[in-house]
Amino acid sequence: MKLDKTKRGWWESAVFYQIYPKSFQDTDGDGVGDLKGILSRLDYLEKLGIDGIWLSPVCQSPQVDNGYDISDYQDIYPVFGTMEDMEELIRQAKMRGISIIMDLVLNHSSDQHPWFLEAKKGRENPYHDYYVWRDGTEDKMPNDMGSVFGGPAWTYVPELGQYYFHQFAPQQPDLNWDNPKLRQELYQMIRFWVDKGVGGFRLDVIDQIAKVPDEFITANGPRLHEFLEEMSRKAFCEEGIVTVGEAWSADVPRAQKFSSRDGKQLSMVFQFQHIGLDQQPGKAKWDTMPLYLPDLKKCMERWQLGLQEEGWNSLFLNNHDLPRIVSRWGNDGIYRVESAKMLATMLHGMQGTPYIYQGEELGMTNIRLELNQYRDLEIHNLYAERTAAGYTPQEVMESIYARGRDNARTPMQWTAGVNAGFTTGEPWLPVNDNHSFINAEAALADPDSVFHYYRRLIELRKTHEVFRKGKFVLLLPEDPNVFAYLRQTEEENLLVICNFSDKQQSLEEICVPENAKLLLGNYAEQSQALRPYEARMYLW
Ligand code: GLC
Repeated sequence: MKLDKTKRGWWESAVFYQIYPKSFQDTDGDGVGDLKGILSRLDYLEKLGIDGIWLSPVCQSPQVDNGYDISDYQDIYPVFGTMEDMEELIRQAKMRGISIIMDLVLNHSSDQHPWFLEAKKGRENPYHDYYVWRDGTEDKMPNDMGSVFGGPAWTYVPELGQYYFHQFAPQQPDLNWDNPKLRQELYQMIRFWVDKGVGGFRLDVIDQIAKVPDEFITANGPRLHEFLEEMSRKAFCEEGIVTVGEAWSADVPRAQKFSSRDGKQLSMVFQFQHIGLDQQPGKAKWDTMPLYLPDLKKCMERWQLGLQEEGWNSLFLNNHDLPRIVSRWGNDGIYRVESAKMLATMLHGMQGTPYIYQGEELGMTNIRLELNQYRDLEIHNLYAERTAAGYTPQEVMESIYARGRDNARTPMQWTAGVNAGFTTGEPWLPVNDNHSFINAEAALADPDSVFHYYRRLIELRKTHEVFRKGKFVLLLPEDPNVFAYLRQTEEENLLVICNFSDKQQSLEEICVPENAKLLLGNYAEQSQALRPYEARMYLW
């Protein structure tokens, strides 16, 4: 079903798919994915049934952080292709009912962006104020704020006697949103992409743009909502433009504001409260603990109820920064297929716009590499910091296996052949050996594959209004193994039941009415009890 994308709200019936271009499909043998590669896989994506592609950054970049460090917002990174390739991709995708959603990195630029090269030249330079500077001396930083990737958030420029602020790597200087000229330039740049025909934008760390470093404020600065409203008015003028902001700090009240139904700010945000549930309280993401299912249920319920009338949810379990979900909350051993389908069922039955991260629809898993095989700067910084702080190398490697971002970034597994059909050259990051049995070719040929299960979930969302509108009711909140909920409209009832454990669970406490029809399930035969990682969706 093709959606009318000129109207606000079309994304409420849509499913999006995230592509990490570096790892999707290489066509010229340099070991790095490219735009032509994405073009060559549009048939595959059309078959899956998605409505839009969130494309991780493809703009010109020194690639210190794989494109999240942009040096020219209006040009394409040559290893990915040309502007013509990009235009062709937008055009061909549109013909298949697929919108391209660009990744906008507006919190910071690359230190190689002409603005920053100018800004460094002197305090009087017109671009100086495009960035966040504070006076200091070599041995005295403005304050002791740290950066997300380790080390201080300040880097000294001796010629100026000043420090610039960077929430991420030193090669990612923060832009100064207090400067109206900078904001105008960003809005103009956004219009450039709207004119090229993109369908919307994913906004990188958008809650961090209004920082006030002097007060240690990074996320949710006092002018944040003002900036978002202005950007929405001036840059996202067409009502069909979909916007999704990445907001690590979002709680329900903030998300209600970000995604309020009047469309004044954003269509929706990525919130991360569910993602942090298996992290030791007060510690870093590397310090893991097992997921306690009732916590996940309460968290999802809070978001489902909180944004039901006021706002809109995005639904996701994976992205390019997160480990693979089957290796995390599922089982990447004997129940890999069952648990991949179960997790998808839990998520896709909810209200919101689901996002599938490349390879999730195949049940791709985490990987374990030698330290020197990893490419992500965050992994290498972590290793250096933690071993220096007294952790054993083995302890640090375990954290990397569990949470390292390269888990998600290994090349897409297309075939069982050499390099999984990703490249004819040397892949920039190793291909997972399990491509011998986890690959798209095998999945397409097998009607019971994870791929076809996702395809059916997407189809169901388009067939039954209850997926979009149904009110959420959590069942069995305290059950440590079973996640069950209802979605209800006047006309339809949807019941979703998921077994998060590798043991059989009783269904006795859930009443399935006689007239309920099994819409979808991940086991072929009927059974009374719930089998390991079993998932069912009933409709009546
Ligand atoms: C976001 C991106 C991540 C990137 C960071 C800095 O969190 O998803 O990949 O490293 O922002 O741009």
